[in-house]
Amino acid sequence: MATQQTKYWPPERADEGVREAASVLASGGVVAFPTETVYGLGGDARSDAAVERIFAAKGRPADNPLIVHVAAAGEAEALAAAIGPAERRLMDAFWPGPLTLVLPARPGAVSARVTAGLDTVAVRVPGHELARRLIAAAGCPVAAPSANRSGRPSPTRADHVLADLSGRIDGVLDGGPTGVGVESTVVRVMDGAAHVLRPGGVTAEQLAAALGGLARVASPPEAGDAAASDAGAPRSPGVKYSHYAPQGVMVVVAGGDAARIRAAVQAAADAERARGARVGILACDENAGAYRADAVLGLGPRAEPERAAQALYAALRECDALGIDRIFAEGYPERGLGAALMNRMRKAAGGRILKA
Ligand code: TXA
Ligand code: MG
Repeated sequence: MATQQTKYWPPERADEGVREAASVLASGGVVAFPTETVYGLGGDARSDAAVERIFAAKGRPADNPLIVHVAAAGEAEALAAAIGPAERRLMDAFWPGPLTLVLPARPGAVSARVTAGLDTVAVRVPGHELARRLIAAAGCPVAAPSANRSGRPSPTRADHVLADLSGRIDGVLDGGPTGVGVESTVVRVMDGAAHVLRPGGVTAEQLAAALGGLARVASPPEAGDAAASDAGAPRSPGVKYSHYAPQGVMVVVAGGDAARIRAAVQAAADAERARGARVGILACDENAGAYRADAVLGLGPRAEPERAAQALYAALRECDALGIDRIFAEGYPERGLGAALMNRMRKAAGGRILKA
């Protein structure tokens, strides 16, 4: 792909940035922008050419559909063929915010490349004000995957976007670091259940509380789970691809309390260093100070998976920058946002888990 000039709009010139980036989108270009979860790479969802440029810039497989971002919930009506009561309840409860709803698609509303030929469309209203202003000013639904090269950790800062996509996209709107740090929760309501296709910024507990008796919440089978091949459960095409991977080999150390995890991580790190590897450790603040390794990156207090989610992708990129070739990451309890955090950690580790 030909190298091109990638424009950078800094946070202190946000008004000008939104105006210019919106006009780039309106004329078929592709720009990265902040959302409350991670940075997205946006293009006019109605334009085959713009959507094609998104796939090309990322190196993304064409059968992995994109999320369509709109500025307000009312705009989902034009994209969906029907919206049921449970879906409406979730829209009311979580939009704007880190929830993506997979809805029956209204034929012709967006490019068939966005939906990868499926008869459903994934829609969300981002919880970041700059994102909504950009979409509103562009005047079109904006298809946007995470603004990373396919397979790499998602970007939580504008410099992550530039590291992956500089020269391949038209511009980056810098809104500072993103808040949630992991992607939106992808949900499809089907047969009386809200199926979580990808855990994310809205937790299963929050979904259940909002739905009340309207629908039960069905959580996703993880890769390697026997249940993963259950017939009838809806699937998200993206789930089969490798994701979020740092350059080093990563292992998640899970299954014990903080002290057992610390002992297991240190033993594994010592063994790898004795073999000459450069070892990085991702740890909760309580344990971080006690480790011996080439790099120790603190992810916040163990009781706050929100902080770890916010810090995870930047920490993985930091390990790459430090030339780390073995990463040991402490596992977290899978409650609340811990579920999405562990899902991303397992994927970044390619499923390598060490039981503490
Ligand atoms: O937080 C987020 O969701 C970020 C920001 C930029 O909005 N976006 C993001 O997009 O994570 P992406 O492309 O990296 O992930 C989209 C996920 C993929 O797992 C994809 O397979 C799934 O949504 N998806 C999209 N359309 C779908 C559909 N029609 N049915 C099922 N899954 C779908
Ligand atoms: Mg992604």
